[in-house]
Amino acid sequence: MHNRAPPAGRPRPGDPSMLRPDETSAAPSAPAPVVPGLPFTARTLLAPMEGVTAPAFRDLVLARHAPEDLGGAFTEFVRVVDRPVAHKEIKKHLGEARFPIPVGVQLMGRDEPGVEGSARHVADLGVPVCDLNFGCPARGALKGCAGAAALEDPAGLERVVAAAVRGVEGRIPVTAKIRAGFEHARDVEVLARAAESGGAALLTIHCRTRREGYQPEVDWTRSARAVGAVSIPVAGNGSAWVHADIARMREETGCAFVMTGRSALADPWVFSGRSVPRDEAARVLAEYGDTLLALGAPAKAAVGRIKQLLGYWTAGGLVTSEEERTAWLRRTDFAAFLDDVRTLAGAGAGHGVPR
Ligand SMILES: Cc1cc2nc3c(=O)[nH]c(=O)nc-3n(C[C@H](O)[C@H](O)[C@H](O)COP(=O)(O)O)c2cc1C
Repeated sequence: MHNRAPPAGRPRPGDPSMLRPDETSAAPSAPAPVVPGLPFTARTLLAPMEGVTAPAFRDLVLARHAPEDLGGAFTEFVRVVDRPVAHKEIKKHLGEARFPIPVGVQLMGRDEPGVEGSARHVADLGVPVCDLNFGCPARGALKGCAGAAALEDPAGLERVVAAAVRGVEGRIPVTAKIRAGFEHARDVEVLARAAESGGAALLTIHCRTRREGYQPEVDWTRSARAVGAVSIPVAGNGSAWVHADIARMREETGCAFVMTGRSALADPWVFSGRSVPRDEAARVLAEYGDTLLALGAPAKAAVGRIKQLLGYWTAGGLVTSEEERTAWLRRTDFAAFLDDVRTLAGAGAGHGVPR
């Protein structure tokens, strides 16, 4: 589902809110990186999100941002089991469109030779950065000792980072993304140092523990502690919900970068802070649905992905109340749902949300 080109006409030339994707991987129009040794063009990063940041959605966000506003993005995690991930699989996650904003590949696994070989493949493909996932709380990941399981074994985490660093052979940076801990956040510094000792060029910290899951409360001071513990740049992550939170998180934590995920589901323009009219906001949903359908997704699945966004959506005043949100989320006539989204996208302001 990820390896096909986006439908012709997306992004739309002439639409001032859209940037043309650069079809070369060199992205000559990209500004210089903001931190030496990392490819990122601004201090803001779109978080890797499984089931969300496949090309179909990621490209919609990238197309709406200048590289000065959004500095980088990542694929969903690519699972490494017991052998190097094939080039074809990595390419599927990268998609075909290229933007001046760098997109890294995220790997998740504990098998060191597998991670080393996969990272080598990532670098072979000219991907500008290879990220490692040490935060996934899902049972499936933990069973294979991957994702957040590594938070209970800092020495193992360090070895996995070192394996990826060997694999890329100095061609691209390896970055690590952790949670603040597994059961508790007492060892943030230990985990941060393990990533640094393994050779990570950037540490991203989602400041919740695995036990805390996605609880609403966050403690950004944990990111500040990571900043104090290592000399590599740190990206803070966790509940930067609106554009203003991005600057606030950097100020409060001293993080070099801020990564945000679910805020982009609520507002795909969150990195620029641009406020868009209702029809423009609806166009993202309509284009997302149409892209998924063009890639072969059944209407039910395409609507499911749109509903995933609508669960958070704030952009363009499209959802004006929680009742309206619930009305959207409860709809089961998928064809009519998609038609109504398309109508809103073309209708301009003043049209109500269909019930
Ligand atoms: C649907 C979903 C999928 C996610 N998938 C990944 C993933 O593939 N890799 C990863 O490192 N983190 C993943 N995360 C965690 C996010 O990258 C991020 O750390 C988390 O959502 C907190 O940031 P936020 O409050 O800005 O959303 C996922 C989160 C969500 C909500």
